[in-house]
Amino acid sequence: MPKIKSVVAREILSTSGYPTLETIVKLEDGTAGVVSVPYGTSAGKHEAITLFDGDPKRYRGKGMLKARDNVNKVIAPQLVGLDVADQRAIDDKLVSLDPSPQRANLGGNAILSVSLACARAASITLGVPLYKHIRETYAIRHSDYVLPHPMMVVIEGGRHADNSTDLQEYLVGVIRDAGGRENVRMAIEVYFALGKILKAKGYSTNVGTEGAYAPTAIGSNEEPLVLIEQAMKDAGYEPGKDVGIAIDPAASEFYGEDGKYHLKRDGKVLNSDEMISFYESLVSKYPIFSLEDGLSEDDWDAWPKLNATLGSKIIIMGDDLTVTNVNRLKMAIDRKAINAILIKPNQCGTLTETVEAIKLAQDNGLKTVVSHRGGGETTDTFIIDLATAANSDFVKVGPTRGERVVKYNRLMEIADELGK
Ligand code: PGA
Ligand code: ZN
Repeated sequence: MPKIKSVVAREILSTSGYPTLETIVKLEDGTAGVVSVPYGTSAGKHEAITLFDGDPKRYRGKGMLKARDNVNKVIAPQLVGLDVADQRAIDDKLVSLDPSPQRANLGGNAILSVSLACARAASITLGVPLYKHIRETYAIRHSDYVLPHPMMVVIEGGRHADNSTDLQEYLVGVIRDAGGRENVRMAIEVYFALGKILKAKGYSTNVGTEGAYAPTAIGSNEEPLVLIEQAMKDAGYEPGKDVGIAIDPAASEFYGEDGKYHLKRDGKVLNSDEMISFYESLVSKYPIFSLEDGLSEDDWDAWPKLNATLGSKIIIMGDDLTVTNVNRLKMAIDRKAINAILIKPNQCGTLTETVEAIKLAQDNGLKTVVSHRGGGETTDTFIIDLATAANSDFVKVGPTRGERVVKYNRLMEIADELGK
């Protein structure tokens, strides 16, 4: 198997306009794997650190030269000569170079870019699709490929859009499997129908960081649910059967130091129990099938109550709560806090740790949703291959904007390839 010849990182621009990392791993046989890694706008407190320079003279402190140098000067010399197909050995080496729990020394961004670029280089030299390489590397035991369904962000607020809802994301999830291509079409057609409704109501159809609508005049946190349900019908789909609504309130973002949830748009301050009742009432009124980060990342006592109340009806998913981290996931499973986990490779830092989190979740009967990041995204499509390799239930990606559609386009390419 070819060995690693060189590892080189560069600073590139992410979708926020601020930098991120692109890393190229070259092999002795001349092949190369290139990867760019994202970071989040509403990143969880417990996830791997995205290392920014902090030099106010460059990119307002958000340059990535330190992370770049960590790849080029610290990581690269340790990886040259390693077998590129031995992803576990590569990731063990990366973790040994920065064993700190949140990868604060080298940066989760530096480590992840190398980990993923090795996987991509290996798949190219082996001549197999990336999703197949990942499945074989980790002996993921599913009998056949089942493509992830789209979970498409259609309205965004919170930190992803100025002056919109407090809840960060309202999404359309495809429930009925109409095949890879048709599933994408279903979701995007609801998005079009929603745009028409927003326009008719005199709301703005400008978009937020993920390409979803960010209507500033929206009346409440509940109103998008009414509009999305209508959009589903207008597009010709049956709410709750063909398509359903998912919400990601990203509740850590409006959880105050007083231990309460501050819903500014509704003029309400709710405690955890009241927040759970709020969700209960929404679920009883609208075709909601999934709730992500309904509570704060540190509100551990309330999560099991939320899951006990709604977990038999809908997906109760951790994102900031679990940060793709096996230890936090174990804690959540032990406490029966969730029945699904959002997976973002850059929350933990290596491909191996990401796949371990997915496997632990699946072994415990949890659903998995592989996700893009809100702010500093790139045109990389790695997450789609990862989701395919693992038979993830959904991929969460925004509509429109090049960095998002390129991911749906990769999903449709894989669908064609697999005849799904
Ligand atoms: P982020 O948010 O990528 O901006 O952190 C996305 C999410 O909360 O799912
Ligand atoms: Zn989230």
